[in-house]
Amino acid sequence: MVDALMQVNTVILGAGAAGMMCAAHSGGSTLVVDHAKAPGEKIRISGGGRCNFTNLYAEPSNYLSGNPHFCKSAMARYTQWDFISLVDRHGIAWHEKTLGQLFCDGSAKQIVSMLTTEMAQAGADLWLQTSVGAVEQTDDGFALTLTKDGKDHRVTCRNLVLATGGKSIPKMGATGLAYDIARQFALPVTDTRPGLVPFTFPEGRFSALAGVSLPARLSNARASFDEALLFTHRGLSGPAVLQLSSYWHEGEEITVNLAPESDIFAALRSQRQIAGKRAIATELARYLPARLVDYLKEALAPGCDLTARLADQSDAALQALCDQLSQWQLTPGGTEGYRTAEVTLGGIDTDALSSKNMQAKSRPGLYAIGEAVDVTGWLGGYNFQWAWASGHAAGTAI
Ligand code: FDA
Repeated sequence: MVDALMQVNTVILGAGAAGMMCAAHSGGSTLVVDHAKAPGEKIRISGGGRCNFTNLYAEPSNYLSGNPHFCKSAMARYTQWDFISLVDRHGIAWHEKTLGQLFCDGSAKQIVSMLTTEMAQAGADLWLQTSVGAVEQTDDGFALTLTKDGKDHRVTCRNLVLATGGKSIPKMGATGLAYDIARQFALPVTDTRPGLVPFTFPEGRFSALAGVSLPARLSNARASFDEALLFTHRGLSGPAVLQLSSYWHEGEEITVNLAPESDIFAALRSQRQIAGKRAIATELARYLPARLVDYLKEALAPGCDLTARLADQSDAALQALCDQLSQWQLTPGGTEGYRTAEVTLGGIDTDALSSKNMQAKSRPGLYAIGEAVDVTGWLGGYNFQWAWASGHAAGTAI
């Protein structure tokens, strides 16, 4: 039994970063629909509550996609500078934390309220705690059954925008709805997997090191990142790990360089001259956290005795030790999965969409934006920048 009939120009499914940005720019009557209690929940919790809302250095090479060129057009037409000026217009104070990452000085809630204000000024309606039922194609657009406050509403629209994000963090309401609707309308969806996610290792592998953090270089055949590495009870985390996880496939090895910035070989050699009686471990502890050095006493290959005296080491022995520290090969057992992943890799195939306006090539009026699309950014504000740019591209086209 349908209680109400309603006609709008555009329905946007998902009041997240991309959906709200799209609503703020779309013309005509717009209805934004979300099953959550509040809009922009991921924005609210992002960046430790301060939202890393963009990156000064965002450019297409910071994104993974089946088509690395796809994001170029939207990102060129709505840049980090455009978003920064929006933030400035709303009087939101911000700062650069590191590596071009911009955060609110105050709270991420300021970004959510900026976007809801922009949406309201554009005249968009927002229906929260609304579930999406059947979605059908009509002669001049789409018809949806939406359930709100226990009532079913049949809503027709000319444009339908899929902005329900990816599968990351189901506890926060993430679903595969955008993929399901895309498939229903014959748009291909590429395989999805968790990205920006900690690595797990078999029980107890790094428990002695839980909480130890250090600057490191993590790499594999596809990518290399110099950022912090954090040991956890479950395995490895920290920015360097999250970044590499997006380039990692099940079963593959990764290489950890524990001291990318220091020439430990030169340091050990020179200390051998002046403090030869010192144990290697004592000298290493000047460059690496003491708990890690203790752990390495057991973990290094036989022949690398860190309790031995520096004076007893040949150049070759010191080099072999340093090689182990710079090329520590590890094979993660897996990742923490969608439960903690910041993003979902893969998604609605970019081949099916116009890179200019995110419209489905085979279904005029159907759009897909944000994380639901097969475009995934690095850690550091890049994913929000994609949400803003793709939301803006679709919104201005509608
Ligand atoms: P988003 O997930 O934001 O929004 C989708 C909306 O659709 C949600 O409101 C959801 O409730 C709704 N929805 C889903 N299924 C539905 C259904 N079946 N029916 C109705 N509504 C439905 N990025 C960054 O650049 N800087 C950062 O600091 C962070 N930090 C961060 C922290 C954490 C913990 C996470 C999980 C993620 C980040 N990210 C991030 C990533 C960033 O949050 C993400 O890329 C964007 O929010 C994607 O924006 P979208 O609008 O595409 O999806």
